[in-house]
Amino acid sequence: MQTPAGTVLVCDDPAQACRLAADRIASAIASTRADRGRAVLGLATGSTPIPVYADLVARHRAGQLSFANVTTYNLDEYYPIAPLDPNSYHAFMYKHLFQHVDLPPHRAHILDGTVPEAFAAEHCAAFDRWIEADGGIDLQLLGIGRNGHIGFNEPSDLPLDQALRLPTRLTRLDPVTIADAARDFGGSEAAVPRRALTLGTATILAARSILILAFGANKAEAVARAVFGPRTAQLPASLLQTVPEKVTWLIDRAAAARL
Ligand code: GLP
Repeated sequence: MQTPAGTVLVCDDPAQACRLAADRIASAIASTRADRGRAVLGLATGSTPIPVYADLVARHRAGQLSFANVTTYNLDEYYPIAPLDPNSYHAFMYKHLFQHVDLPPHRAHILDGTVPEAFAAEHCAAFDRWIEADGGIDLQLLGIGRNGHIGFNEPSDLPLDQALRLPTRLTRLDPVTIADAARDFGGSEAAVPRRALTLGTATILAARSILILAFGANKAEAVARAVFGPRTAQLPASLLQTVPEKVTWLIDRAAAARL
């Protein structure tokens, strides 16, 4: 279905959506490599894309997919956090993808949760420059928070023009995000870092194509507001309405319930 926020494909279940996402990623790698000699992927964490990574790993093991000419940039990282912390997104990516495939480790970029705070802005600005120097992101994979966040771009009162121009930066987590993240931190909200580094909306929207996944009834309202609601900083995923021609939503029936 064509919507103000892009093409929405409603799948029978998350497994089917994840298979389709892996298909898209594999063909983006193949076609971009053919055009430019390499591909740049923007990667997401959270529970939603785990089966996508499992599928990509299976394709790699079957000899059907190589990451040798791929560069990756991750969406976000908690702050502060050490890369060896099991709850870091560094650890997540290593566990679910990086250790299993032939992606050159020096081309797998994740924002550094150990950077001293005085240098965080500089580190984030450098990250945006690296992406630009690499020719931009060919395909950005996204999830969506229950509050409509993308990456860790949280709901805010910013005017629309500013919300669309946000660079990669250090940001503060929304209470809904902290509550949802608690399950990964032993069920304790107190253990969840209060801040995070995130790719900005400007960087995300500049990707040449965007694949956003959402599963389950608890995402239905955020999906409906993002797709058909007003374009507003209050619901960061609604900012995808700025570039609908680039966006594909892969969602299950439960997440599509309010469309
Ligand atoms: C986390 C991540 C997001 C992710 C979202 C949804 O906070 N920073 O990038 O999309 O939450 O998580 P899940 O897929 O576990 O529902």
